[in-house]
Amino acid sequence: MRGSLPSSQVGPRRPLCPQVPTRRARLSPAPAPASSPGPGKMRRGPRGPRGCSLAGVTLLAAALGAVLLLCSATAAAASSLHTGAAINVFSRYGYFAISMRVVPRNETDRWIFREPSVNVFKNITALPPRSPSAAARHNGRVPVFEGDFHMEFCDNLRQLLQAYFRDFQVERLERPWSAFTASWSRNAMAKHLGLNATYVAGSHCYVLVRVARHRESGRMAPAQPGVPVEDFVAKDRDLVVPGDTESVVEWVKSFGSHYVASYVTGNSLYQVFVYTPHIYRRIKERLKTQGVAALSAVELASYFSPWYAEHMGRIQSASGNYTVEAWAASQLRVNFYFFAYPSLIKLHGDVGLLKTLDGLLQNEAVLQLDLRTLAPVFQSPERRHWFNEVVDNQLKLWEVNMS
Ligand SMILES: *[C@@H]1O[C@H](CO)[C@@H](O)[C@H](O)[C@H]1NC(C)=O
Ligand SMILES: *[C@@H]1O[C@H](CO)[C@@H](O)[C@H](O)[C@H]1NC(C)=O
Ligand SMILES: *[C@@H]1O[C@H](CO)[C@@H](O)[C@H](O)[C@H]1NC(C)=O
Ligand SMILES: *[C@@H]1O[C@H](CO)[C@@H](O)[C@H](O)[C@H]1NC(C)=O
Repeated sequence: MRGSLPSSQVGPRRPLCPQVPTRRARLSPAPAPASSPGPGKMRRGPRGPRGCSLAGVTLLAAALGAVLLLCSATAAAASSLHTGAAINVFSRYGYFAISMRVVPRNETDRWIFREPSVNVFKNITALPPRSPSAAARHNGRVPVFEGDFHMEFCDNLRQLLQAYFRDFQVERLERPWSAFTASWSRNAMAKHLGLNATYVAGSHCYVLVRVARHRESGRMAPAQPGVPVEDFVAKDRDLVVPGDTESVVEWVKSFGSHYVASYVTGNSLYQVFVYTPHIYRRIKERLKTQGVAALSAVELASYFSPWYAEHMGRIQSASGNYTVEAWAASQLRVNFYFFAYPSLIKLHGDVGLLKTLDGLLQNEAVLQLDLRTLAPVFQSPERRHWFNEVVDNQLKLWEVNMS
């Protein structure tokens, strides 16, 4: 039993992101050599003004994995997702998951992103990925698992949905996760989260454990006011009339409301553990004060076993890849006293499994997305201002109507 959760490779406690005090626990990969910042730094980008909504989601800093520098293959598959692509968020609010692969879908087509988009910008300045892995690769040394392994404590279902979509931002939308989830029924929620429907109602607490393998990414310099745009866009810029809401709505139908400022695609495995509030608070408190690294293997295993958990969700992959899920169901099986169950926690510090998984998780789903408004397209400050005002109002209306 102990063997399945090696603790010898547990790394030191990692400092938290300074701007966002409590967000999530990092499980791995552990700190890289001083010369190359570890992949954990990947998420240290600026976040939207979401500080308030994050309150209560507890973050536990902990580095679980070992840093192992080996060569790993790069993925080839491409998707239609690219920086500068402008999409109409108004038309899709609550239904983002229809056109972006973010949760398992019952279909065999391999699309990742199929939202109609328009290339509005003439000249996009690509920025290097936030991930330091590219730099690391130049030295011929990349981590055994290129991505991110974390756990997040969620006091309720809303926080769980928020946590699942933590890496998705839509400028001017206060609750970006709702752009995906507002249309989900209880049953759909249970299915997407890998839970028995009993546990998406009533009073339960959750821990989301996820290991995300990054494959492709893109990031552009944010568009500045008056940014050069394609001629067909420039021609119609004047159609937006300050004070006229309909003029913005019509313009958005043709050119979109937001553009893709950055994205990461790849695939992930995730599992949700459900607890009664009482047990949850105990575990959360224990982990908050001690960190994952301080727990014994047995203690960690027990917290994420039916011993403490009210319910253990299925291990699912974001893309719904059956091969990967079948691998997880068999290879991540843990025996703990008289229980036997698949658990993502088994990956904790297990280099061999992480390495296998690194190869299994291909480029099949959207993992991160940052959408910004197209306001900079307008040269006149009045138009920009009006555009944003209408975008704000439309999105707020949606948020109110669909919640
Ligand atoms: C997928 O859809 C088909 C047809 O709609 C259905 O028969 C099948 O049970 C579904 N599978 C899952 C896993 O939902
Ligand atoms: C594109 O952007 C770069 C950097 O901002 C600039 O140096 C270059 O002149 C621009 N090219 C055009 C055609 O606007
Ligand atoms: C879901 O959980 C309830 C309560 O534990 C149980 O009665 C039911 O059989 C479960 N359903 C499935 C599909 O596992
Ligand atoms: C699922 O993942 C496996 C392992 O990486 C891969 O070989 C297979 O092509 C993937 N299947 C689909 C439908 O993407």
